[in-house]
Amino acid sequence: MTRIVHLSDLHISSAHFLSEVAESVVQGVNEISPDILVITGDLTQNGSFPEYMEAKEWIDRIDCRNKVVVPGNHDSRNVGYLLFEDIFRTRSPCCSLDGVTVVGVDSSQPDIDDGHIGREMYGWIAKRFNSNSDFNSTDLRIFALHHHLIPVPMTGREEEIPVDSGDVLELLDRCGVDIVLCGHRHVPWVWKLNDMFVVNAGTACSNKIKARTTQCYNLIEIEKAGDARGTRDTGRCIRIYQVLPTGEQMLIVDSIMDKNRTGNEIRGIK
Ligand SMILES: [Fe+2]
Repeated sequence: MTRIVHLSDLHISSAHFLSEVAESVVQGVNEISPDILVITGDLTQNGSFPEYMEAKEWIDRIDCRNKVVVPGNHDSRNVGYLLFEDIFRTRSPCCSLDGVTVVGVDSSQPDIDDGHIGREMYGWIAKRFNSNSDFNSTDLRIFALHHHLIPVPMTGREEEIPVDSGDVLELLDRCGVDIVLCGHRHVPWVWKLNDMFVVNAGTACSNKIKARTTQCYNLIEIEKAGDARGTRDTGRCIRIYQVLPTGEQMLIVDSIMDKNRTGNEIRGIK
């Protein structure tokens, strides 16, 4: 089984970071002992050097060998995206492990809160899912970005969705992406679009919560369906849990994904 922990929107700063909650999150994630850790942005509030240093220290305390971290709009404020590159090496990280490929992109723009992927990235994304040297065509495909590609309920007036979200969703569907991981709106939610789960995370450890929500993060478990159910089922069993800082887990999705890969092969990059 492959376990992925998905954190988002830490907002490390004196005004918003809840250190006691964050401590519980570190302990909880280390108990889960994920194979891959994905953090979908807004590590900081203002993209400043002290905030980045604190974020790095905090993330380093999570014991995981495969970390996929992308920046959010707050991280790109005040030219903070350069510090992000200094610390995390790339704003477009990728990881392939045990039949799972994760591709991350930077959906932020300096000093603008709106999301944007950009058509110049579409070919790169398609190639990462299909030409990555570590990539196997049967890999489960996960795409990670900060901004929400689909509006999230109970978040008030819709805003800051990537300006090219429609084109990006079509690209990801064409690439056969199985799961999209995103954040930004601080409300957990899962949509299923065609064969693709679009999974929003809440804020892991900041006070920037909305109405009836609370701090939380996601756990995704992936295993061969036959192994999970003691049968000859093909495909992959996907379970998605919402996890509270207390460690309580709520099962949100329990699904077998067994789509015809042939039908999802890239038919040309637009
Ligand atoms: Fe954000």
